[in-house]
Amino acid sequence: MMQGVEPEPVPSVGRGVLPSFVGRIAVVTGAASGLGAAMAHTFAGAGMAVAALDIDEPAAAGIATKLADEFEVPTTALRVDVGAADSVAASARHVRLTLGGCDVLCANVGVQQFGAIDRLTEQDWEWVLNVNVLGAVRTVREFLPLLRSRTGWRRIVLTASSSVLAPGVRLGAYQVSKFAVMGFGETLREELAGEGIGVTILFPGGMTTRHLESSASARPAELGESVMEPDDLEAMLAHRPLADGDVVTPEHAVRRLLADLIADEPYVVTHGSYRRDYEQRRDAMDAAFDRMEAR
Ligand SMILES: NC(=O)c1ccc[n+]([C@@H]2O[C@H](COP(=O)([O-])OP(=O)(O)OC[C@H]3O[C@@H](n4cnc5c(N)ncnc54)[C@H](O)[C@@H]3O)[C@@H](O)[C@H]2O)c1
Repeated sequence: MMQGVEPEPVPSVGRGVLPSFVGRIAVVTGAASGLGAAMAHTFAGAGMAVAALDIDEPAAAGIATKLADEFEVPTTALRVDVGAADSVAASARHVRLTLGGCDVLCANVGVQQFGAIDRLTEQDWEWVLNVNVLGAVRTVREFLPLLRSRTGWRRIVLTASSSVLAPGVRLGAYQVSKFAVMGFGETLREELAGEGIGVTILFPGGMTTRHLESSASARPAELGESVMEPDDLEAMLAHRPLADGDVVTPEHAVRRLLADLIADEPYVVTHGSYRRDYEQRRDAMDAAFDRMEAR
């Protein structure tokens, strides 16, 4: 367990000007693996203290130790289940006691449950919405006082998904949850604007992570097993075939994250070839406005 650290002042948060991250504190949920681990690596590499929070405590502890060894920054790790309010509240108390606050909060946990709309069960919906949506809400609610206790450069990052921009099939519960994450981020950004806490919504495409495996093992036993029918993946890929660059490493997905956070960008599209799909939806919405205005 490491001691709290005093932040150095951030010289500038202007576009293209690198602030000093030394003494700043990053909190990442889902930090034991994949995108969260890559985010934690990025922040520690910039000199920030890191709290690695995850339902998989041994793996989170492994990440925290590795970062402390590699970058000589304070780190801490804790088991947190973002599906449970008391667990998230306890993690915020832990971070306040060990690191002293939070300057960058990444509400990054998301679980996946494939399934056609008529096959997704009540339990599937309950689990995905509780973890992905309420998990992000709880994380922000419990850590906001830690962000507010700090001054200067502060950011919240919410992990949505490319499926919000280019929806697919057999992903109904997941997509609904990620649309909700975006909606939450939009409100949050407006509500926190006067406090200087920026909010960035991340839209990653496919990544080479343990997402399906770790989702299945994190699902509470009382909700029954996570079932994926063999044709779910096939149907999804047939609806929107993968193109070059659609699946990347999480390290590649975060390559510009710090720069985007410095610039306080509201949206970050990390990679992928789904721009045209997004533009078709945007064009259809524009056309809806055109028809309305013509009447
Ligand atoms: N992998 C992809 O292709 C992809 C694409 C778009 C968006 N995303 C999103 O990226 C984020 C990170 O996913 P990833 O691909 O790095 O997956 P990952 O499985 O590598 O990492 C997710 C982590 O979340 C943890 N976790 C699961 N349930 C939890 C809970 N209830 N409480 C706390 N921790 C929990 C897991 O233990 C795991 O360490 C998720 O929000 C996911 O929806 C992933």
